[in-house]
Amino acid sequence: MYESVFVNAIVLLYMTNSSNPPSNTTRRDFMVLAATATAGVGAAVAAWPLVNSMNPAADVLALASTEVDLSAVQPGQSITVMWRGKPVFVRHRTPEQIASAKADDNAPMSDPEPDAQRVKKGKEQWLILVGVCTHLGCVPMGSQGDFGGWLCPCHGSHYDASGRIRKGPAPLNLAVPPYEFLSDTSIRIG
Ligand code: FES
Repeated sequence: MYESVFVNAIVLLYMTNSSNPPSNTTRRDFMVLAATATAGVGAAVAAWPLVNSMNPAADVLALASTEVDLSAVQPGQSITVMWRGKPVFVRHRTPEQIASAKADDNAPMSDPEPDAQRVKKGKEQWLILVGVCTHLGCVPMGSQGDFGGWLCPCHGSHYDASGRIRKGPAPLNLAVPPYEFLSDTSIRIG
């Protein structure tokens, strides 16, 4: 169908632009052009299923999630898991760390965000962050820096106990990935 529409369009264009009867040479050129255009459209239509099949299928995307067992992570501890090729920090915050993060909600920040928006309601002890510095992509080190969070050693960005950027060249907070609780002691990231 696409071929015939396209060729009809070419014929119409040709007739519109031709004030004189076409010579044999011109007619032959037109036939070559029409045949080439038909082949081109046909190839594009034939290639579509191939191109479409190269997009990631839904089941492949689903595999790109990571389930994490939290049961062994004690308050004050952190673990790092991999998700879609990136490190993800999973920190079990102590009540003091939560209080510190909330107390700083109104502190000057380049990327202001309340702690409550970076954790799940009722699960404030769990902080889940993509462990990639928002400056140039280094992996920050935990329990270091001036704000009880992470320090990126590459150029000295300090993140607080909510993963918010507080000092240094990084422009944004550590990202919170999409995740959900499957139970009180397990999450699925992605
Ligand atoms: S990459 Fe982290 S401060 Fe530059």
